[in-house]
Amino acid sequence: MNMKTDFLIIGSGIAGLSYALKAAAFGKVCMITKADEDESNTKYAQGGIAAVMYSPDSYQKHIEDTLIAGDGLCDEEVVKMVITESAQRINELIEQGAKFDKTANGDYDLAKEGGHSEHRILHHKDNTGFEIERALLAAVHEHPNIEILDHYFAIDILTQHHLGIEVNSRKPDIECYGAYILNLRTNKIETILAKIILMASGGAGNVYATTTNPFIATGDGVAMVYRAKGKIEGMEFYQFHPTSLYNPGESPSYLISEAVRGFGGILKTIDGQEFMQKYDARKSLAPRDIVARAIDNEMKIRGDDYVYLDCRHLNKEELIKHFPNIYQKCLSIGIDMLKDYIPVVPAAHYMCGGIKVDKKGRSSIGRLYAAGECSSTGLHGANRLASNSLLEAVVYAHFAALDGIEKIKTLNFCEGIPDWNAEGTAYPEEMVLLIQSLREVQAIMTNYVGIVRSDLRLQRAFDRLEILYKENEALYLKTTISPKLCELRNLINVAYIIIKHARQRKESRGLHYTVNYPKVLS
Ligand code: FAD
Ligand code: SIN
Repeated sequence: MNMKTDFLIIGSGIAGLSYALKAAAFGKVCMITKADEDESNTKYAQGGIAAVMYSPDSYQKHIEDTLIAGDGLCDEEVVKMVITESAQRINELIEQGAKFDKTANGDYDLAKEGGHSEHRILHHKDNTGFEIERALLAAVHEHPNIEILDHYFAIDILTQHHLGIEVNSRKPDIECYGAYILNLRTNKIETILAKIILMASGGAGNVYATTTNPFIATGDGVAMVYRAKGKIEGMEFYQFHPTSLYNPGESPSYLISEAVRGFGGILKTIDGQEFMQKYDARKSLAPRDIVARAIDNEMKIRGDDYVYLDCRHLNKEELIKHFPNIYQKCLSIGIDMLKDYIPVVPAAHYMCGGIKVDKKGRSSIGRLYAAGECSSTGLHGANRLASNSLLEAVVYAHFAALDGIEKIKTLNFCEGIPDWNAEGTAYPEEMVLLIQSLREVQAIMTNYVGIVRSDLRLQRAFDRLEILYKENEALYLKTTISPKLCELRNLINVAYIIIKHARQRKESRGLHYTVNYPKVLS
């Protein structure tokens, strides 16, 4: 089945859903998503969404906190734009049905996280993302102009390349016309043509061995746009969350929200000593790059596999009220956070770089927009401030939709795109080839391109990845398309871009820390 739609959205997390609700008044929207419709990073977001709601907080304070976390690389105009939009976009989310916790006097119960100078995180207990995803999906289901196709896997976006015209990254006029999509129910590859395309495919945490991201986070959007010769930036800034639950064998890693530290949780080494004062005056609530690096350093010096988060001194009823899911999760593995230390380790968490977009969410490829974690807007710079990503996703979905609604009036469908050609391919004889290559990519990235890097490690990573790249491209050409094959290919592409960008950055900044260009921990 081939299809035509006004707006094609790839991904059903907060970015894709928010965009769909705006675009649908102006044309037919088709949203495709590769797993169950709610499966996304969004669904697992815990801490909440940052916004300036009341004094003593102010836009200026939130702007400054964002700029400080970004370590000099944020686009200041973008930071101002996103933060001054925050209250409006939050109110829209509330109108769309999302519920945020309130205090007894009816004000929003604002939490605090690392790098924030004020309490400004709106949340729904400790499962804010689940609540947002629920509300937006319900609103989308109500809309007659939006169709969601779940278990539809985007393989590649369509450009002039598919019309036989040469495309390269120096050409300013590349255009996107839709995508080739694998229908996972029929195993057939379909062509979806669209006038406007939004990439909302989320992050790529699975490029590392340990991540808080669900299995869908394989960097597909970044890899597709990279292959289509679109601009990608900032990929050296992969954020490791300081505190994922240390529970060997569990994948993905369960997150222990930064809001727990905002609530008073204290990091300690396993002999019960506080250590963050050695690294930053803000201690356990310093920005994530600093805390993750400090934990990594303590673990390496001491030879420990984890550090502890101590919550035993906190108000027990309030702790359970604010973090019921974290409390239950810990209990399920025999840890009572009211009485026991919680063992934690850093885990890959958020892709700060991605598809380069302007203030309207436009990528370097015509008709193609990007929003949410797959995009690079300039908001995060070298390190994202906690809970700024859900905010960024709704703000950019808004501006991208406004621009697309105007543009679509002058656009037509592309003619002449051929159907997918599967000639000469066969089902893989040995799945072990894919599984082993995936493990190798993750090991290379974890050991050589993790929290602390060096020129030598990056060189090694590059050399080893090249072998995997060549092997996998050869396999790709002769193998029947499957999500596992495509995801591996995408992760190899993403790993390559992270290494390339890391090698180009001859300094330690934000999340990119290299021993060859050290920066004193402040
Ligand atoms: P996602 O929500 O990840 O959605 C991506 C969608 O694209 C999914 O539906 C996926 O299936 C689909 N997709 C991907 N590839 C394809 C393909 N090839 N074909 C079809 N569909 C595809 N941020 C905050 O601001 N506050 C928080 O408290 C917070 N907590 C977090 C906790 C955890 C455990 C995690 C993992 C992240 C957290 N984040 C938080 C980050 C935040 O959740 C994400 O950055 C944000 O939800 C990303 O939204 P998105 O719409 O861009 O992508
Ligand atoms: C958390 O709850 O710690 C996650 C917040 C975020 O990633 O922004």
